[in-house]
Amino acid sequence: MLCRMFNFLMMTVFTIELGGVKRVVICGYEIVHEILCKSANVSSNRKADSMPKHHSEIAEATPGIFWAEYPHWKTLRSFALSTLREEGMGKSHLEPRIMHEIHAYIDHFITPHVGQPINLSDSIMLATANVMSSMIHGHRKDYTDAFFKLWMKQFRVSLEATTKAAIARNIPFAAYFPGDFTGVKADIKAGEVTIPEAMRQVEAHKANLDPNNLVTYIDKFLYHAQEKKDDENLFTDGNAGMSMLQLYAAGTETTSTALTWAMLYMCAHPDVQVKVQEEIDNVLGTNEVRYQDRFTLPYTEAVILETLRLGNIVPMALPHTLEEEYTIDGEIHLIVILQTLPAGCELMINMASILWDEEVFEEPNKFKPERYLNGDVTLKKTRTLAFGTGRRACLGEGLARMELSLFFTTFMQRFKVSLPTGHIPNLDGVCSIVNAPAKFTVIFTER
Ligand code: HEM
Repeated sequence: MLCRMFNFLMMTVFTIELGGVKRVVICGYEIVHEILCKSANVSSNRKADSMPKHHSEIAEATPGIFWAEYPHWKTLRSFALSTLREEGMGKSHLEPRIMHEIHAYIDHFITPHVGQPINLSDSIMLATANVMSSMIHGHRKDYTDAFFKLWMKQFRVSLEATTKAAIARNIPFAAYFPGDFTGVKADIKAGEVTIPEAMRQVEAHKANLDPNNLVTYIDKFLYHAQEKKDDENLFTDGNAGMSMLQLYAAGTETTSTALTWAMLYMCAHPDVQVKVQEEIDNVLGTNEVRYQDRFTLPYTEAVILETLRLGNIVPMALPHTLEEEYTIDGEIHLIVILQTLPAGCELMINMASILWDEEVFEEPNKFKPERYLNGDVTLKKTRTLAFGTGRRACLGEGLARMELSLFFTTFMQRFKVSLPTGHIPNLDGVCSIVNAPAKFTVIFTER
């Protein structure tokens, strides 16, 4: 709903100033591109001081990748990128591990419940978390592992609570409201599970660090700290744990939300589902999908793109801080924009203004995968900026695209999906840091 509201505020720049926090919402591809790409040197930092106080305190000591400032974020981000690439991000040797997870998911969550309604959103995040786990820890967790489930539950609680708490920081007196109006208590409680566990893992890896057998992300991080003395204030134990947590947080809920939207759209548009399945049957038959098959499955690919566009998975991206006063002076869709943004303000990116821009995407609120097969496809693909843009754009885009393609194609190859009889698909998102479908159940039927 909130996302749809922002849709009315397209193509402008507006400021929200409350409780001493100045947030500037930037809208429209041209302005976002101008500020985040052309002027990346003044817009690529993130500062946690607009986050809830307890977050900014933690972020100050252990910023990890999300909250480190230039040049530290660059070093931590490069380390994360190269380590994940070593583990296969964006490369074909990761595929068997993702396929293994897909089969484990089907065996555990779908096969025993074929023909019955299942809650996809709660279970699918365990699968995407396990892909992260195999890249970060070198192994997956069992779906029955109670601590794994608790850990993931706390991530979700924290994600929802952080958004509420960040907004509540604009309303300082909200802290005095009864109960947990600001979400701060829930967030702190979740952090009491996730952060100590991350630090416990760092300690355990440190105690057993073997330079000849660096298996996990933490091992590599700790080894880097030992080897590169220049980076020792950055490659701290705290940042090892925090970077790991942030990779889980960023890589789990986003990809699982996109998959949940994809399944909901298939239930809502059975004609599209049939076309996807016909294409898969013709091209793959019963052969297992490979990521390279996306080139011969254009309709299926178009459905994934349309899901990323209409699902608007991370509706405000992550905040950026403007380092210097900045004047926007330009013309967008014949509207003259001249506005000075103050140094130090927090930039929020209205992703809906790009993904649902009717100048580029005809009938933007409709699910129409064909749009990626006709007309100016290059323009439409470039504007499907679901992963953000500029220097702080999503670090896991390659991994997310591979997961979406393999999971979605396998599900469609093996199952027909539908909603329980009489259920009307609710296509309005529920917005926090991610924009997720409202809770629904889906029925998988063997094809
Ligand atoms: C469908 C899935 C995903 C979507 C839609 C998505 C989207 C985004 C967006 C919009 C941003 C913020 C960009 C900005 O503020 O300018 C972001 C940042 C980030 N994403 Fe993703 N993401 C996804 C999956 C992943 C995965 C699988 C990973 C794990 C490797 C990941 C890791 C990150 C990290 C670490 C950042 C922060 C980068 C930085 O601060 O430099 N994301 N993502």
